[in-house]
Amino acid sequence: MCGIIGYVGRESAVPILLSGLRRLEYRGYDSAGLAIQHNGNLEIRRSEGKLSNLEAVLHKTSIEGSTGIGHTRWATHGRPSEQNAHPHRSGDLVLVHNGIIENFLTLRHQLESEGHRFESETDTEVIAHLLSSVMKRESRLDQAIRQVAHELHGNYAIAVMSLAEPGRIVVSRSGCPLVIGLNGTGAFLASDVTPLLEYTREVLFLEDGEVAILQESEIKVFDPEGQPKEYQAETIHWDAEAAEKGGYPDFMMKEIHEQPQVIMDTLRGRFNYESGEADLPDLVMTKEELLGARRFWIVACGTSWHAGLVGKYLFEEMVRRPIQVDIGSEFRYRDPMIQPNDLFIAISQSGETADTLAAAREAKRRGARVLAIVNAVGSTLAREADGVIYTRCGPEISVASTKAFTGQVIALYLLVLHVGRVHEVLSPEEGRWWLDHFLLLPGQVEHILKQENMIESIAKQYAKKRNFLYLGRGINYPIALEGALKLKEISYIHAEGYAAGEMKHGPIALIDSEMPVVVLSPKDRLYEKSVSNLMEVRARSAPVIAFVSEGDHALDQVADHVFAIPDVHPLLTPILFTVGLQLLAYHIAVQRGLDVDRPRNLAKSVTVE
Ligand code: F6R
Repeated sequence: MCGIIGYVGRESAVPILLSGLRRLEYRGYDSAGLAIQHNGNLEIRRSEGKLSNLEAVLHKTSIEGSTGIGHTRWATHGRPSEQNAHPHRSGDLVLVHNGIIENFLTLRHQLESEGHRFESETDTEVIAHLLSSVMKRESRLDQAIRQVAHELHGNYAIAVMSLAEPGRIVVSRSGCPLVIGLNGTGAFLASDVTPLLEYTREVLFLEDGEVAILQESEIKVFDPEGQPKEYQAETIHWDAEAAEKGGYPDFMMKEIHEQPQVIMDTLRGRFNYESGEADLPDLVMTKEELLGARRFWIVACGTSWHAGLVGKYLFEEMVRRPIQVDIGSEFRYRDPMIQPNDLFIAISQSGETADTLAAAREAKRRGARVLAIVNAVGSTLAREADGVIYTRCGPEISVASTKAFTGQVIALYLLVLHVGRVHEVLSPEEGRWWLDHFLLLPGQVEHILKQENMIESIAKQYAKKRNFLYLGRGINYPIALEGALKLKEISYIHAEGYAAGEMKHGPIALIDSEMPVVVLSPKDRLYEKSVSNLMEVRARSAPVIAFVSEGDHALDQVADHVFAIPDVHPLLTPILFTVGLQLLAYHIAVQRGLDVDRPRNLAKSVTVE
């Protein structure tokens, strides 16, 4: 997730901007830059990679001035490079941006036909060009921003400086946070409070559609209609570490709570509602090529493999395509029957997992077309693949993967919808039906997050247990695996995920009153069978935690605890159950006094075999 910083005041801006960018480093970034306005000039310095690279550039060619904006970029459109780093300039203005402009391609084509020349691959640059166009007839930057806002689809927080308005930074937001503050030396802005805390604790969180003008000794805020607005600053009591975590106790909790946003961001701009189609330009695959794909494969590791297993059910049930799902470390050492024209889908949060990468290389060597579903833009897998679907989750800092899984499943929904429409197994109406229901998922995840207290109280009762069993069927079998993986990773409790129907083939021998069993039992065609499994468990005195569909009270008297997720189509249940299981694992680990963000023996990115 990009970071934005800005300062206008009496002090030299560069050190303040650099220190602010350091404070934003935790958000993850692949390039950084800043711009200073001074004596009728706008000077920009940018570099790929770490902030030390930007510092080295500034060391060689220093800049002075007391009005400036800075940015750390986490790539979404265009690879990480100096050219794609912010700030971006058009004419007499520069800007930095956080967010995603969905309609940037349409806007870019329109601007190019009007003679604008683009220097980057980013969606951000269209905002700079649009603004400089409007500024030719509009005298005030804040009004120009309001006009341009009507043309932008997506979400953004922007900070802009114009030579026409020296000593000012104008900011606005829609869907992405922006915080501003003032102290005796000047005005500050940032994408979260972390960098502001060393200067002021009195801050204002801008609302969607508002525009603010920052000057050395005052901040003016305008509502979305352009009317001046009285505002009340809020006092922040967090320390810098808590601020990085957005007020959450750790990154894992923050990332769990980011999932509604992740779903929206991953879907954003990637479908055509009218035609009921997914729109995936980075797939770099024509309809003919997709139709010609002989066989489909998914390969991944760990949590990403679980997302891949969910994908298998989606491919089979939504579009009737057979698909083989493999673990990276197994695939690479088999002699897989993969052939030219097969479509090989590699799923990875980091894009650097050694086994997944090796499998993708092997598939490519054998002539398959490689599609990556990746979170980290510019990662090795993303660069080596023929096509990419980026999950727009922002950096996942906690070692245990949570929001990345959700982003991967959403990317798979889009891919399956795309395949279904291309193969014409899904009609436009069916496509629209799925899109409508994908778009309900953020609210449904919110609904689950609001019931966190209930899961926390269940966690408290079982935190001392030594073993757990997770049972699921059909598309929720991989979710049983994921729930068990999450628990073992962060709580160090032995947990097994099983296909519920397999229980009587072995694990039932383990069941007694000391073995809590988590049963995923949505109202689907396997419901009766899941209930029978639950009864078998109950008969052996095991405590049962049942995850069910809202409105199903049949298990209230049978299970020890019942947690309901919204009643959705069975193929849409995996994300909702997973969020509940993430919370369960999290609260059990917290009860055990463990460091949830840094579990022992685990690395965030497994770049070795
Ligand atoms: C589980 C977890 C790991 C990763 C696995 C693959 O919480 O984090 O199982 O999912 O190491 O990593 P990526 O997705 O980066 O390839």
